[in-house]
Formats: sequence, structure tokens, C-alpha cells
Amino acid sequence: MKILVTGGAGFIGTHLVERLLKENHKVISVDNFTLGKQENVDKFNNNSNFKFYNIDIDNTELFCETLKSEEIDYIYHLAANSDIQKGGKNPLVDYNDTFMTTFSVLELMRRKNIKNLFFSSTSAIYGDENGENVHEDLGALLPISYYGGAKFASENFISSYAFMNDLNVVTFRFPNVIGPNLTHGVIFDFVKKLKNNPNELEILGDGTQTKPYIYVLDLVDCIMQMTEKMKPGVVIYNVGVETATTVTEIADIVCEVLGYKNVKYNYTGGSGGWKGDVPKFQYDLTKIHNAGWRAKYTSNEAVRKTAELIED
Ligand SMILES: NC(=O)c1ccc[n+]([C@@H]2O[C@H](COP(=O)([O-])OP(=O)(O)OC[C@H]3O[C@@H](n4cnc5c(N)ncnc54)[C@H](O)[C@@H]3O)[C@@H](O)[C@H]2O)c1
Repeated sequence: MKILVTGGAGFIGTHLVERLLKENHKVISVDNFTLGKQENVDKFNNNSNFKFYNIDIDNTELFCETLKSEEIDYIYHLAANSDIQKGGKNPLVDYNDTFMTTFSVLELMRRKNIKNLFFSSTSAIYGDENGENVHEDLGALLPISYYGGAKFASENFISSYAFMNDLNVVTFRFPNVIGPNLTHGVIFDFVKKLKNNPNELEILGDGTQTKPYIYVLDLVDCIMQMTEKMKPGVVIYNVGVETATTVTEIADIVCEVLGYKNVKYNYTGGSGGWKGDVPKFQYDLTKIHNAGWRAKYTSNEAVRKTAELIED
């Protein structure tokens, strides 16, 4: 198959490209290195099945023109601003990198008659009023971050393009993804802060924020499994783990892995880490489990494995 991966130089994109190449697909990767890394492209450069374009996907005409003569069977759309905190400071970041990249992908599909799309959505579209057992059929969603709003707008555009252009779409709404080559997020921050000062650790919020953390290779397995079964219309799955980890537990695991004892935790207070953060939620995973996938690693196991890797 000829596959286009947007955001292919990013954290999840690189793991996905690696897996697709291993399965002998031809992969075109597109990224503009906002958050992606050149080394994530260089590692595939001597594979004749791999091709890379450095362009701004939110520039719809440039994107469509650049890919005009490429044959593409499937698109895995991962490009977005993945730094929710950064996006909170300037709404244009998520408008361009999270929403407009999706619009460009949909335009490419319409213009080139490409039928198959995988979309990486997020738990952030559910907002913070849905609490526990959040399931895919909830209505009246009210995202609270610009990022969540831009992903939800993307899902809505995907729905309309799917109907108007007879697309086959699989959308995953996943929570925090962690693992090898992580570039930001709470584990990453804790390791950085502790290496600076092993005696004290600043923790945003009151430490009780509780979220499920999924290991990136579990997620890639799930993407591969579910995109084999593309069918007409849009199928949405919550993809995650049944367990969750509090921020204080993350701090404990990171301190243990780094070998730091008696670290004084300084909580900044409040129930959330930052404005736009959803402090607590847990998914209903019945749909993805019934479809035949289940994560191998629990949330705490994923956190520990990731902390060990950052330590290296
Ligand atoms: N990592 C998570 O915890 C998580 C959770 C839920 C959803 N997601 C979604 O999964 C996808 C991948 O996330 P990730 O963690 O690998 O993030 P990432 O930032 O590592 O990867 C996204 C890539 O998109 C690229 N990009 C952004 N804007 C672009 C633009 N305008 N043109 C070209 N390239 C652009 C970035 O440079 C980056 O390489 C994203 O859509 C993200 O929203 C991630």
C-alpha cells in the first residue's frame, strides 16, 4: 500500500512510520518540524520505500500541489499541535496546526479521490464535565482547550467530508501517550526538573489529577489492527487503558527510577495543572475491547517504562 503519514517526524508518527515500513508499505511522510525532529526522518532515509516532504500542511494549496502526483491509498493524519499548554497561549496555533492541517488532508482526499483515513483525535474533545466512563456516543461535547476545540472541529469536518465523498474513516480518541522518544509532558518535565534539583520537585496542581497513560507501541498495534478493517463512514473508538495514574504517583515512580529519595514535593495547588487541563477522566473502552484489542501495559507500567527510557 502507498501510505501518507502527516506528522511523520513526531513522537507517535515516527513509531507508526517504522511499523508501516517494517510491513513493507511505501510511506510518504510530511512534517514541518514544529515539534517533530530531523533525526526521526534521517533514520528512514536509506529505505527506498520512504519519502519525506518538509512542508506546512496547514497551507492547503501548497500541500495539495506538492502531493498532486503521488499515489496514495491511505492517509494517517497525525499532524497537529500536540502541546496543549503552548496552544493555550495563542489560539492561532491550534487553528492552524490542529484544525487547518485536517482541512488540508480532507481537501487532498476530495481532490485526489483518496478514500481511507485514520485520524488521531483526543480525550480533550470530551471537556471536563463527563467524568468517568466516558463513551464514544456522548453528545453535547464542550471541549475546554483550544486544542480540544480544534480536534472536535476536525472530527466534525471529517464527518461531513466522509458523507459527501464516501470516505472510510477510523478515528481514535486517545489520552496521554508515552514511551520511547517522548518529547514533552509530565514525565518528561519531572525528569528534567529532578536532574536540575534532586531535592525538590514542583508539581502543578494538587497532585490528584488522574489520567490513563497508554504506551505508544500498544497504540501503534491498535492503529494497525483497526485500520485493516476500514469500512464506509466514520468509526470512532476510545483507545486507552483501564487503569490510571495520579500525578503524585508519577512523581513517586520517576523519583524511584532515578534513585532520588526524600524529594520534597511542592504543589502549586488547585485541581488542574493549567487552564484547559482536564484533571480527571476515565474512558469506557467496551467498544475497542469488543473490536478485539486490549492494551498490554497498564498505566503505571507505561509510566515506569517511559521514565526508565528517559533516564537512559
Ligand atoms: N501524545 C499524546 O499524548 C496524544 C494524545 C492524544 C492525541 N494525540 C494526537 O496524536 C497526534 C500525534 O501526536 P504526537 O504526540 O506524536 O505529537 P508530535 O508533536 O510529536 O507530532 C505531531 C507532528 O505534527 C507536526 N506538525 C504540526 N503542525 C504541522 C503543520 N502545520 N505542518 C506540518 N507538520 C506539522 C509536528 O512538527 C510534529 O512532528 C497528534 O495529532 C496529537 O494531537 C497525541
